[in-house]
Amino acid sequence: MVPLGGEKMFWLSVTKENDIPLIRQVYDQIKHRILNGQLKGGERIPSSRELAANLCISRNVVLEAYEQLIAEGFIETKQGSGTFVGQGAFLEQDISSNVKTKINLTTSNDDQEIINFRSGIPALNLFPKKVWAQIAKEVYQNMEPQEIGYGNPEGTTQLRKVLSNYLLKTRGVYCSPDQILITSGATQALSILAKLLLKQNDTVIIEDPVTYEIQNIFSNQGSTLYPIPVDEKGMRTDLIPSNLKPSFVFVTPSHQFPLGGILPIQRRIELIQFARQTGCYIVEDDYDSEFRYNGPPISSLQGLDPEFVIYIGTFSKILSPGLRIGYLVLPQTLIERCRDIKWYADLHTSSFEQITLAKFIEEGHLERHITKMRRVYEKRRKTLIQALVSNFSDTISIHGDSTGLHLIVEFKNIDFSEELLNKVLSNNVRIYSVDTHSYHKGKHLNKIILGYGNVTTEKIIEGITKLKETLSS
Ligand SMILES: Cc1ncc(COP(=O)(O)O)c(C=O)c1O
Repeated sequence: MVPLGGEKMFWLSVTKENDIPLIRQVYDQIKHRILNGQLKGGERIPSSRELAANLCISRNVVLEAYEQLIAEGFIETKQGSGTFVGQGAFLEQDISSNVKTKINLTTSNDDQEIINFRSGIPALNLFPKKVWAQIAKEVYQNMEPQEIGYGNPEGTTQLRKVLSNYLLKTRGVYCSPDQILITSGATQALSILAKLLLKQNDTVIIEDPVTYEIQNIFSNQGSTLYPIPVDEKGMRTDLIPSNLKPSFVFVTPSHQFPLGGILPIQRRIELIQFARQTGCYIVEDDYDSEFRYNGPPISSLQGLDPEFVIYIGTFSKILSPGLRIGYLVLPQTLIERCRDIKWYADLHTSSFEQITLAKFIEEGHLERHITKMRRVYEKRRKTLIQALVSNFSDTISIHGDSTGLHLIVEFKNIDFSEELLNKVLSNNVRIYSVDTHSYHKGKHLNKIILGYGNVTTEKIIEGITKLKETLSS
C-alpha cells in the first residue's frame, strides 16, 4: 500500500491476484476517494510517475487511469503545476464503493446501391458466425429437457450470472444476478419500464435531442415529456427545475444519442442528488459505450447509486441487432413487478439464444470480438474523419466521435431539410439529420448523424465524396 494525497495521507493498493485490470483498480480507488470526500476539489494528487513508482506498476497504467478520471471530470491537469482533484465531484453518502455484488430500431434492408450511414448498426458481415455456430451446436446437442420447455421471465441463471460478472468488470455496474432481467433488446427494456413507471400524465425528463423512437415509447404510455437541452457534454442537468417531480429521468450518459457527449461526474452527481431528493429513478441507456477509442469505456452511472439508477444494456451493437438480447439491471424493489410485465409481454426471451450467449461470454469470445471490432471501427472512424476534413475542411466541425458507431457533423452554412436529404439520397447516399430526434424542432438542422459501423472504408470515402458533390451542386 502506498500513501496518496497531500497532508492528509490515505492508502492506495493494487494487486495482480484478481482479474480486475490494474488500470481499473487505480481508477476505482481514486474515484471513490474523490466521491466520498477523502480527496477534495482542488487538492493535488501525485504525478503519474510518482504513483507508478510507489505502486511498482507501469507508468502507462497510471496514465491510462488518470486519462479516464480526466475524461469523466474527476481530476484535471494544470499545465506546469500538476494534477488536481476537480471541483464538485463529492457525492454525499457515496454508496457505490460498498455495494456488494454476489458474485435506430428498425433494420430494413436497403438497396445494395445505397451507401447508408445509418447509426447504431454494427458491421453485420463480421458477426462471429463460425464460433457462434459451434457453440450453438453444442448447446442444442446437450440441452437438458427442462431447458427445452418454458423458462423464467427473468432469463436463464447462467446468462445472468455471467453478465453480472462481466458488467462489474467492464462497466462498473454493481449488481447480483437476481437484479438482471433479460429482455428482447433495449427496446423491450424501455417498454417494460414505461409500463411499470408511467401513469397517464406522469412526467418523464428526456434529453433533447434523443432517439425519437424512445420519445414515442414514453409518450405512447400517456406521459408528458419534459425535454432538457443537451450540449457537447450531454444533458444540461443545471436546467432541470428543482420543483419538477418526474417518474424518471432518461439519459445516455456514456455516449449521448445522438450528439455523442460524455456526461461529466459533476452532472452525474447532480442527477443522483435530484433522484434522491425527488424520489424518482434515473434510467441509464448504455447502448454502445464498449467502443471507446481513446481509453477504456466510461463507468456507468448505475455504479454511483444502484438504488436510484436503472441500467439498460444491449447486445445489438456489440454483436448483432438480430439477436434481440438486451437486459435491465434493477433496484431490488422493482424486480418482481418487471418480471411480471416481461411475463405478460412474451413469457421470456429465447432460452437457446441466452445459453449460447452465456457460453460465448464465458469462453472469452465476447471480449475478443469487442477488441477486434474496436480496431475495425477505429479504422472506419478515422477514414470517415479524414474524408470529411479533406472534402469539407473548415466548413464543418465534428462532434461526439470518441465512442460508439457514429459521429456528428455540424455544417457552418447548410441546413438539412427533408428535400436536401432526399437530394443526397438520389445520389445513392443516405444520411440522417439530428433534427429528426429533436423534441424542439429546428435547433439542430445544420447537423447530421453519420453511422459508420456497417460501412466499409471504401464505401465511406465514396459516400463522402458523393455527399460533397450533391452539396456543392
Ligand atoms: C440510444 C439507443 N438506445 C437503445 C436502442 C435499441 O437497441 P436494441 O436493438 O437493443 O433494442 C437504440 C437503437 O439504435 C438506440 O439508439
